[in-house]
Amino acid sequence: MFLQLLVWLRFGAQCRWKRLITCHGPTGQVNFLDLVNNLQGDSGRGYYIEMAIGTPAQTVNILVDTGSSNFAVAAASHPFITHYFNTELSSTYVSTGRTVVVRYTQGNWEGELGIDHVSIPKGPNGTIIINIAAILSSEGFFLPGINWQGILGLAYPTLARPDSSVEPFFNSVVKQLGIPDVFSLQMCGAGRSATISTEPLGGSLIMGGIEPSLYRGVVWYTPIIEEWYYQVEVLKLEVGDQNLDLDCKEYNMDKAIVDSGTTLLRLPVNVFTAVVNAITRSSMIQDFSSGFWDGTKLPSFRITILPQLYIQPVTDVDGTLDCFRFGVSSSANGLVIGATVMEGFYVVFDRAQQRLGFALSNCAVSGGVALSEVAGPFSAADVAADCSTRMFKESVMWVVSYALMAICALVLIILLLLLVLPYRRRRHSGEITDESSLVRNRIK
Ligand SMILES: *[C@@H]1O[C@H](CO)[C@@H](O)[C@H](O)[C@H]1NC(C)=O
Repeated sequence: MFLQLLVWLRFGAQCRWKRLITCHGPTGQVNFLDLVNNLQGDSGRGYYIEMAIGTPAQTVNILVDTGSSNFAVAAASHPFITHYFNTELSSTYVSTGRTVVVRYTQGNWEGELGIDHVSIPKGPNGTIIINIAAILSSEGFFLPGINWQGILGLAYPTLARPDSSVEPFFNSVVKQLGIPDVFSLQMCGAGRSATISTEPLGGSLIMGGIEPSLYRGVVWYTPIIEEWYYQVEVLKLEVGDQNLDLDCKEYNMDKAIVDSGTTLLRLPVNVFTAVVNAITRSSMIQDFSSGFWDGTKLPSFRITILPQLYIQPVTDVDGTLDCFRFGVSSSANGLVIGATVMEGFYVVFDRAQQRLGFALSNCAVSGGVALSEVAGPFSAADVAADCSTRMFKESVMWVVSYALMAICALVLIILLLLLVLPYRRRRHSGEITDESSLVRNRIK
């Protein structure tokens, strides 16, 4: 009844020479095998990593979120959390006296900005001094049944609150431990039940590189088209073998991002409607023509999301299968490749080369069958050259530059007038009064 979803992404890297230089010579060494299985959780309530904060160390679980850029920890009690980071008990905690408010799609929190020492028991060796937002109050942020007390925003400084001067956690790790500016994420809840009662499932956050044992085949890379969220460019969407055939800008309206902190695959309203229609339609059509693509080497690859990834079984507290959840929803603020999709893949956040990699995760297997697929290269001849909606921002830039040009022209006219007026006056008086050498030289 349900069909696979195929998401086509632009293939390649957004290499810039300055990045290649900063990419050289990382000194920190990380034994990636020590990091395997350092996550717990599921797509419904998020994946978290254990951290030790302050002196003496207080242990808390921190949600891994690639869709925000603040490191924030509960610093006061809340009905849905078991414990919190007590800043008063840490001799190394320093408050900056600034307050910060962060809003997510669901929920928000308010806190105080501070600095403290942090180490990650199953992370790179070493202690880092990092910015911490100590959460003092929140709404809809901590949820029933969660087993984490804070959030690790792994996106870029642009998204940091209150402003980009608050260096995000991973930027600090790369700087202070000298590890490569890359992390990779494997979340292992694919095809399993999204219920409160099941055991937390595992996963891995590999800081500093890629662990080969976590994936099969090759890693396919797509450019990060802008460094704020992990924004990518979706070229095409197919349901089964049917191309949705929308203007590809629709898929990226107003952005397409990869976000481990979002549970579902979220699609812009128009795209969502088209997907639902396609699923309905194709449950009546039997035969699909394959061999649609010609295999010429050009700029795309596709990730395939099997129904097992986006139709999730939900079991009751007593373990009986209750119903299924449709893991796709409509969105008013862009396409989001959330945790249910990421669970099918080993996703590489290669910040050094400004690209995101997708490979077949070795834990996205059910009954010996892979739940996902990554394939390429394909030509996307039927797709426009630019699908991202950066156009809008660029047009704003054009307006700004035209305005600047107008101001320049105005200044030029004034200068010319200044040139001409004294000249006229001289004609009458017969003497040079202007002191500007530029003007004098012009007259000679
Ligand atoms: C940390 O250092 C120890 C001792 O040198 C080493 O055995 C271990 O693999 C290191 N861990 C990581 C994650 O690099």
